[in-house]
Amino acid sequence: MKDYIAQHRTRFIEELLVFLRIPSVSARSEHKADVQHAAEFVKAKLLEAGADLADICTTAGHPIVYGEKIINPALPTVLVYGHYDVQPAEPLDLWDSPPFEPVIKDEKIYARGACDDKGQVYMHIKALEYMTNTNNQPCNLKFMIEGEEEVGSPNLAIFIKENKERLKADIILVSDTGIIDNDTPSIDVGLRGLSYLEVEVTGPNRDLHSGVYGGAVANPINILCEMIASMKDANNHITIPNFYDDVVTLTPEERAELNKAPFQIEVYKQDLAIDDVHGEAGYTTLERTGTRPTLDVNGIWGGYTGEGSKTVLPSKAYAKISMRLVPNQNHEKITALFQKHFESIAPKSVKVAIRPHHGGNPALNPTTGIGYLAASKAMEKSFGKKPIPTRGGGSIPIVALFEQELGLKTVLMGFGLDTDAIHSPNEHYGLFNYLKGIETIPLFCTYFTEMSQQSVA
Ligand code: BES
Ligand code: MN
Ligand code: MN
Repeated sequence: MKDYIAQHRTRFIEELLVFLRIPSVSARSEHKADVQHAAEFVKAKLLEAGADLADICTTAGHPIVYGEKIINPALPTVLVYGHYDVQPAEPLDLWDSPPFEPVIKDEKIYARGACDDKGQVYMHIKALEYMTNTNNQPCNLKFMIEGEEEVGSPNLAIFIKENKERLKADIILVSDTGIIDNDTPSIDVGLRGLSYLEVEVTGPNRDLHSGVYGGAVANPINILCEMIASMKDANNHITIPNFYDDVVTLTPEERAELNKAPFQIEVYKQDLAIDDVHGEAGYTTLERTGTRPTLDVNGIWGGYTGEGSKTVLPSKAYAKISMRLVPNQNHEKITALFQKHFESIAPKSVKVAIRPHHGGNPALNPTTGIGYLAASKAMEKSFGKKPIPTRGGGSIPIVALFEQELGLKTVLMGFGLDTDAIHSPNEHYGLFNYLKGIETIPLFCTYFTEMSQQSVA
């Protein structure tokens, strides 16, 4: 395996660079053709790597690439899920090199999608190539690589419901998360859920002279800021009534276990150039991101933001708000609670409109299933160290649906680092991580197959 990687290293990297040059930004309609192009690339590479079939499945939005290589129906099946779409690259001026012109610097590939998730998807395609070319595929493999993860997977749920037979598998394997650091492998066992919405606050029917009317008519930006500020108290507790009703409280033992993961607050602060962290009182940073819900403004706008100044009392103000959710919160319930609360705190001087975007439920995996155990053994072998179970703060909303619709557990065997700057300018992915992923995936398949057969026997 190591020989194969060493021998094909340059080509493995160059092929990924070709993939990264396709600006498959799912959120932007002007990139529709690029997203399609990325789907075609994935399909072609799956076939090249030995897949028996690879289809581009059209949806109401961007396509889903489905592929498979079935070697023996009696063997277990691993279904690989990932996404070939990427986040918008803006603000472009903060990139040291253009986001869709990948460069390698200090053993890292810099490009939008390098880590999230094209680099990690491509590891699976190269792992398939290895298994095909060395006649070493231990189980059946299926691939479902979508193009709408970064916009909330609006069409994947329908696809899953309509293709249950085709998607039959024993486990879902996803590489779209990270490890603690390159010397400390870890496996995420938790993902937060998400409720995302947009709010609009309207004051007067038109923009007004801020002198003639200022002080006598509600300014919707001021009001919106007050409303947002009121949704957290002095302890950074969210004040929406019943918001915490379903939150699972960790036992002292679980908290102690979680906080055992190596975490250096000084390094964390230094990396972000902050003098202090911030969050809900009574919880550590790892607990805050892994086990507690949030409410954050992702964007806020209104009024005059152009050059110079304009004295205006705006008619409208807007914000995009996200809430990260933890077990057992339900995104539909939380969206409804937010809606009701936001309307109830709006003063009579303004009108509010709330538009829910997308959502997803949190997921939590046991460390006792054979999926986790196989991933742990594979990483132990490739890293030379047993991975630590961790709870990630991010969301992959479809994971909860896999369990609900297909009855399948998901293993989050990701290889990124928190410092890879996913969704940020200068996103990158270490060559070490990319190649380590390619090395580990076939090991997972081997161990998962062995463990499945043992548990059946
Ligand atoms: N790969 C991330 C999620 C992630 C990153 C999980 C790191 C754990 C650790 C994924 O592509 C992502 O960004 N998801 C979105 C979900 C959304 C757009 C519906 C997120 O978390 O914001
Ligand atoms: Mn991702
Ligand atoms: Mn992402």
